[in-house]
Amino acid sequence: MCGIIGYIGDRSLKEVLYNGLVKLEYRGYDSAGISVLSSEQNDNKIATFKATGKLHHLGEKIKNEKIIGHLGIGHTRWATHGVPSTVNSHPHNSSDNSISIVHNGIIENHAELRASLTQKGYKFLSATDTEVIVHLLDDNYTGDLAETLRKILPLLEGTYALACISVKEPDVLVCARKGSPLVVGLGKGENENKENFIASDVSAILEYTDQVIFLDDNEVVAIKKDQVKVWDENHNLKTIAPTTIEWTLETAEKGGYAHFTLKEIHEQPKVISDTLKGKIKGNSAVIDEINLSQEELENISKIHIVACGTSYHAGLTGKYIIESELRIPVEVDVASEFRYNNPIISSTDLVILISQSGETADTLAGLREAKKAGAKTIGIINVMGSNISREADGTIYTNAGLEVGVASTKAFTAQLIALYILTLFLGEKKASISEERRAYMIENLQKLPKMAEEILKMESTIAEKVSIFDGAISSIFIGRNINTAIACEGSLKLKEISYIHAEAYPSGELKHGSLALISDVCPLVAIATKSSTYDKVKSNIEEVKARGGKIITLATVGDKEIANISGEVIYVPEIDELFSPIVNVIPMQILAYYTATSRDLDVDKPRNLAKSVTVE
Ligand code: G6P
Repeated sequence: MCGIIGYIGDRSLKEVLYNGLVKLEYRGYDSAGISVLSSEQNDNKIATFKATGKLHHLGEKIKNEKIIGHLGIGHTRWATHGVPSTVNSHPHNSSDNSISIVHNGIIENHAELRASLTQKGYKFLSATDTEVIVHLLDDNYTGDLAETLRKILPLLEGTYALACISVKEPDVLVCARKGSPLVVGLGKGENENKENFIASDVSAILEYTDQVIFLDDNEVVAIKKDQVKVWDENHNLKTIAPTTIEWTLETAEKGGYAHFTLKEIHEQPKVISDTLKGKIKGNSAVIDEINLSQEELENISKIHIVACGTSYHAGLTGKYIIESELRIPVEVDVASEFRYNNPIISSTDLVILISQSGETADTLAGLREAKKAGAKTIGIINVMGSNISREADGTIYTNAGLEVGVASTKAFTAQLIALYILTLFLGEKKASISEERRAYMIENLQKLPKMAEEILKMESTIAEKVSIFDGAISSIFIGRNINTAIACEGSLKLKEISYIHAEAYPSGELKHGSLALISDVCPLVAIATKSSTYDKVKSNIEEVKARGGKIITLATVGDKEIANISGEVIYVPEIDELFSPIVNVIPMQILAYYTATSRDLDVDKPRNLAKSVTVE
């Protein structure tokens, strides 16, 4: 949902800004732009370049431009207010071109602000909510950009991460955030005190530094080459210690794969072991980041899981895991619905927020709603320092590394692992899972990286089976029990990246409506791996076969019978049903990936979508 980059220092501005935007393109890709403060003959000027469409259009535009300067900002957009167009793309400049800004978020009261600025004579060029900010800065300019920004922020309702530069202060980059992510990257090594960066996330600056400052909401920061000043919301200067980021640069590169999505699918064996690492000791799960007392943990009588998209499907899977092992009721809610449904939350409830980014606006709002009700909160989060991880009572970090593909893959498997770990942890604290059972669960978890590797070896076999979707305009995914959630995730993957409509059901539900859709252009994808309900799922597949449906089934290796009723079969290794979601979701991801590439689609950046949705 829009990516921001900013730089002050002596490197090539064009390179730092453009390369940063390349890394951030997954956040939004309908237009992009940069503003640089160029200082030729001691005459400071802001030069702004913008282009609609994917980022490479901007790249072509600036390719032959001589961009000289030491201060600049850049933006890649996912439109909210105003269609994707050059004029609506960021940066937005003041009428005299003296101030330029980029913004991620939504200014909810932009219409009122626009009306009052228009009355004062300001002319608006774009249909964006952002343009009001630059005119407000111009209208209130005190001669100090940071001070001016602090002055106008109380006028803005909504969310923002924003960065601005001014010709009148050529040595400072000024930023602020509220509800949208922004990190400050510090020059390091030889470049300590010689350069600094800002970005929506660390991937954009990882090639230059691993030292970052995470800003809190309502903070304003003034960044010079050799100095970073942060003011809190009461305008007091504060010191924030930098955090060292452990992600490597390789995570931000494709590393020889055709797409980030494919690379991320392949990273899953490692991600599973990395997420387990350090969190399993003997027969116990150890989670250091949970700040709840033994008594608080023992008292938990109900669990809510709140999440969006793929993370919501991890939540659906988590419900089965937790309920079967802990026998505590679990409710799973789509985050955008949760707080509007007047949820019944008590102080002995635990609310689990699952989010790869840790910034999804609806999930964050769900966390705040839960805290307001006095519930305990735990985030299952991938991005360090993100809002949810900082506001929740505890966080389990999924060590998936940077996920760039808009369709989430490795973050999902990592979330599932985190849910198993949390279940083990609560089971021990609440004395509801015996040591023997914990040992069994851990033994199974430890088998998973190897099994994931085995599945990845079947990539080309799975890829050959995508012909089942030739000519398909729709599809139905079925599973049962815990694998209903995986059917949901499989169907989401297919929809997101191949644009084939897909619906998912518990298999027993098929005959109550969706069976009518089965036809040559609507195949069935069934999960029928070994489980307590295997025979039931098999009968449901038979029902589709009897009606001439095209079927592809995920089955357990050695299941010969299934080949008689299903046109195509993908075999996966055998594991206890409780852990089968990890084994089953990987072939679903591969199937969706190759269906999308067979249709020549841009898998990493599906149309209309964005990786992080920081607006409601
Ligand atoms: C967007 C992404 C999805 C993701 C969802 C939730 O819709 O495109 O891939 O699952 O947001 O994101 P989160 O960061 O909260 O997991």
